[in-house]
Amino acid sequence: SQTRIAVIVGSLRKDSFNRKLALALAHLMPSDFTLEHLRIDDLPLYNQDDDGNQAPSVKRLKSEIAAAQGLIFVTPEYNRALPGVLKNAIDHASRPYGQSAWAGKPAGVIGISVGAIGTAVAQQQLRTVLAYLDVPTLGQPEAFIQNKESLFDDKGHIAEGSTKKFLQGWVDKYVDWIKRHATA
Ligand code: FNR
Repeated sequence: SQTRIAVIVGSLRKDSFNRKLALALAHLMPSDFTLEHLRIDDLPLYNQDDDGNQAPSVKRLKSEIAAAQGLIFVTPEYNRALPGVLKNAIDHASRPYGQSAWAGKPAGVIGISVGAIGTAVAQQQLRTVLAYLDVPTLGQPEAFIQNKESLFDDKGHIAEGSTKKFLQGWVDKYVDWIKRHATA
């Protein structure tokens, strides 16, 4: 049977490197892992007044998370923090109180930026949020990817040899982590 992984990309940009990275990771996954990108660009701004009457897009997000056995967060870093659009999605799916969609879903955290240590701070903040939400995150290997012109080929695969090898190692550990922690 298929293991369903919900992918949450922290950038809404059309040509997002993080979305490209997420799509490239799918090529490195075993055939029994299905990666599904969750939409977060149509969520309203989080407002606690709406907890009892969540928007259809919020309900959809929560049901997609519930249907997944694991999560992958692929996020850029904005001003040494996690992007607001990502935090907005996390907050939505954590409510109403006691009905969080996140609890117990194992996750991987990864990101790509133009800077050399890019996404390290954003990832660390994200891990803090996820720990509070009872989302166990793969600790090692950490993956801070720097974008380079030759990183992706024209089919969206990782072209650069050492990065491909590194990411395959990350995927292998991630798959093992999900198999050990998946509950749904
Ligand atoms: C950035 N960028 C950035 N990079 C980084 O490594 N650390 C940072 O703190 C920031 N801050 C930041 C703020 C804002 C508002 C923007 C728009 C960008 C650069 C970032 O790495 C680059 O734009 C990536 O291309 C963003 O990821 P996507 O959209 O390509 O997935």
